[in-house]
Formats: sequence, structure tokens, C-alpha cells
Amino acid sequence: MNMSDAVNILKSGHVVGMPTETVYGLAGRIDSESAIQEIFVTKQRPFFDPLIVHIRDVAEAQSVVRQWPAAAQALAQQFWPGPLTLVLPKSEKLSGLITSGLDTVGVRCPDHPLALELIARVGVPLAAPSANLFGRTSPTQATHVEIEFKSLVPVLNGGACRVGIESTVLLVRTMDISTTSKREKFEIAILREGEIVKSKIENCLTQAGIEFQVLSEVSRRESPGHLKHHYMPNVPLIYCRQIPRCEEHLRSATEGRLKTLPDEVEGIRIRKPTQLSKLKELVLSSYPRMAARELYQKLRELSSEGPDAIYFVEPQYFRQGPHQELWQAIIDRLTKAASLLLDEELA
Ligand code: TXA
Ligand code: MG
Repeated sequence: MNMSDAVNILKSGHVVGMPTETVYGLAGRIDSESAIQEIFVTKQRPFFDPLIVHIRDVAEAQSVVRQWPAAAQALAQQFWPGPLTLVLPKSEKLSGLITSGLDTVGVRCPDHPLALELIARVGVPLAAPSANLFGRTSPTQATHVEIEFKSLVPVLNGGACRVGIESTVLLVRTMDISTTSKREKFEIAILREGEIVKSKIENCLTQAGIEFQVLSEVSRRESPGHLKHHYMPNVPLIYCRQIPRCEEHLRSATEGRLKTLPDEVEGIRIRKPTQLSKLKELVLSSYPRMAARELYQKLRELSSEGPDAIYFVEPQYFRQGPHQELWQAIIDRLTKAASLLLDEELA
């Protein structure tokens, strides 16, 4: 599908697969209630999980929020276009269907020329979750989207995604000024880790002279997308915190734990291996950006080879050494994608 087709489909109130620098999105215009419905239905996503609104610049972001605080301005200036979603008080005009009835909206400006052109030509912001079925692996290539929705969703092909994991989602809250000094103060919280890591966010705010504190936890209500399982591939993934002595060791440790696995957690079905004869190992680059870029692609590739299970052995540098924050974002995806986490069992 070419750009003009994508623009026409969106204008007529339907959805398309949209490339971004992180993962492909399933996009629909924010002013079409039926397009937003179509996103949730196509993805089989529960209505409690809100959608990110994609805008092309700060002015457009301001049109979907109720406040544009100094902290948002500083962050947008530094990181947009890019993989940072800002969660801010929503505008009254924005449909509550997009925000799942929350008082906030997630906004982001994608760093992909085709996404920016699409938003500009449609003329309104586009709501877009990752273009995968709910709870499953995000797509990083146009063909992934086609396969996921059995070619029912037309996709604008923008090549392989550069970042490969979803944007950082950051809650930005203005504290009540009357209870503090006269200057505005902010509370921020990372709701989903990504390529824009906490230290970069803190540096940006500090350099802009903004007073803030970081919340390590927010209520479940404020972060409805925070699920224990997510990103699950077609074949069960086993995440090993320790190195198994051999495949047989891995098999016996897994078998011991299989009986204790629930069928479903928070509405996501947990994939379980029915046998363990054919195992495939997921190996990722030791460069974190490269590892992020290839993660979902490799999970799909290995799944399509039809093993009984895929396993991943955590390398030491995931928790020691440079780039800890980005590795942490990758650990987050891998452990949520895993059906099973093995640790002491492998000792
Ligand atoms: O990189 C990305 O963010 C991709 C591309 C397509 O932009 N999009 C994406 O969307 O990953 P989705 O829907 O798969 O994940 C969005 C996450 C969800 O966990 C959702 O709960 C959270 O952002 N979110 C969205 N709006 C929110 C809000 N108002 N408050 C709290 N969390 C929000
Ligand atoms: Mg998603």
C-alpha cells in the first residue's frame, strides 16, 4: 500500500499499519469513534488499556492535552521526534475511549518520516497501539503486521524499525503549587522502560532547571498497561537467570515447574510447552541497541522454526557493566514474554 492509499483509508475512518522507529502501530484518527473501536476490536485489546496519540509536533500535542507544563516542553524539545511518550492531563475534547476513561493521555511524536507524513496528510493526530494481538510480540517489520492480522489490515511499509522496542512511557505530573514553593514542581514516573532511559530524562530536566522528583511506583489505575505478561511469542519462552549445565538440566528444571504454571494471568493466556524435545536458544547481540532492534524479530524467527520451547540465558552484562538502563528495558520485555522464569532451579 502506498502513502496516498494509507491517507485515504485513515480519512475514511478505518485503520492501517503504520511504521514508527520503535515498532509498527495500528493507527486510526483520534476524531473517529469507529476507527478507535476498530483498533481495539482488531487487536482484541481490552478497553481498559489506553492508546498512545501520535502527533507531528509540540503544537499538535498541545491540542490533545489540558496542560503543557515546562517539564513536557523540556522533554519534547530534547527527545522528540523520538521514542518517548509523555502522559499528561488530557483535553476534554479527546474521546475517553482512547484514554480508557483516564484523565490523562499518552502523546508521542514518532521519529519516522512516513509516520510524520501520514499524520500531516491526514491532518489529525493518530491513535496507535503496537500492531499485534493483545499480549503478543510487537511487530518490527511490515510483514509481521500482515501475518498477525492475516492480511486484513493494510500496512504502509517503512522498513525494519530502528529501535525495535516500544517507547519509554513517562508520567509527568505537576504538583500542587500551593503546597510547595511558588515554582512549579513535578513528579515523574517511568511507566514503561525504553530507549530513552531514566538518567537521560533526569539530565534533561535538571539542565532545564526544572524541579522534580521521581516516583518509583504509581497506582495500578494510573498505569493500566502494567501487566505481568506481555509480548508473548507463539512458542513458550523460558528465561534462565542462571546458566543451565546442559539441555537435559534445562528440561528437568522446566518440567519441575510446569505443573505450577497458571493457565492465564491477568487475562493473558500463558503458553506452555507440551513436550520439550526440540529447544531453540535465543541469542542476542551484546550491544544493547542492537539487541533491542533484533529482539522481537528473533523471537518470531525462532517461533516459526517450530520448536517446543525457546530458551534465553541471561548474560552477566545484563546486570553488571555499562548500559544497565537499556538492558533493564530489554529484561522487562524478555521476562514478560517468558512463560517461565528459572533461577534457583538451575543452581
Ligand atoms: O513505541 C510505542 O509506544 C508504540 C508505537 C506504535 O508508537 N506504541 C505502543 O502502544 O507500544 P501500546 O498501546 O502497545 O502501548 C502503550 C502503553 C500501554 O502500556 C498503555 O497502558 C500505556 O502506554 N499508556 C497509554 N496511555 C496511557 C495513559 N494515559 N496513562 C498510563 N499509561 C498509558
Ligand atoms: Mg503493545
